[in-house]
Amino acid sequence: MRKKIAAGNWKMNLSPKEAQALTSEVITMAQAEYTGHAEVIFAPPFPYLSMVHHLMKEAKGFHLAAQTLHEAESGAYTGETSAAMIVAVGATHVLIGHSERRQYFGEGNDLLAKKVDQALKHGLVPVYCLGETLEEREAGETLSVNREQLAGGLFHLSAEDFSKVILAYEPVWAIGTGKTASPEQAQEVHAFLRAEVRAQYGEEIAENCTILYGGSVKPDNAKELFSNPDIDGGLVGGASLKSRDFTEILKALP
Ligand code: PGA
Repeated sequence: MRKKIAAGNWKMNLSPKEAQALTSEVITMAQAEYTGHAEVIFAPPFPYLSMVHHLMKEAKGFHLAAQTLHEAESGAYTGETSAAMIVAVGATHVLIGHSERRQYFGEGNDLLAKKVDQALKHGLVPVYCLGETLEEREAGETLSVNREQLAGGLFHLSAEDFSKVILAYEPVWAIGTGKTASPEQAQEVHAFLRAEVRAQYGEEIAENCTILYGGSVKPDNAKELFSNPDIDGGLVGGASLKSRDFTEILKALP
């Protein structure tokens, strides 16, 4: 089912105290001020997953995500975290293929496809991120790069499995830079992604596919971005660290 979602990617930020305050504040504000039907996803750093889970587990429509996972079941992978561990501490979702993972940790589409499989095997919803760099956009490769990342990480899936995945289009040049894609630029790629999904899996799965936009989403641009027909919500970095800003972004969703 296509959903409206405000997802907060906290990245490697916040002390435990700050994480606790942020979680509680967003829940309180959302319950007092938000009347729509969008869901919230928090993606805290690994050490806070359990704590955040306990703070939010009674809050309706709030879900917990890990920021990545390892593709193996278990074993000698020092420093890594398995799908089963993520599930055990209360997460239901996992970010896969964030551009910072692609860029700084060398994660490519083949590896990401394995991570997607591992997440689905354990019942985690993959939030699969994709997007072009500035160089690729300027070279006119925006659509081909996005197609390659979409197909490379996901099109091996059965229709049933693909329908569980959430997409997040995040142009790399807009992440953490304050430069947001214009609503037209974002809508163009979202519509393209949906058309690619339609060509691969058919009309119903494409229509039901949730596609988030990420890259400098802020309270003052959220509404305009989210008013586009193919933009179903946001994956928010910087602004998700401030409870008021993140709540305002949530409130921009119906
Ligand atoms: P940003 O990050 O909102 O700080 O640009 C978005 C993301 O990386 O998910």
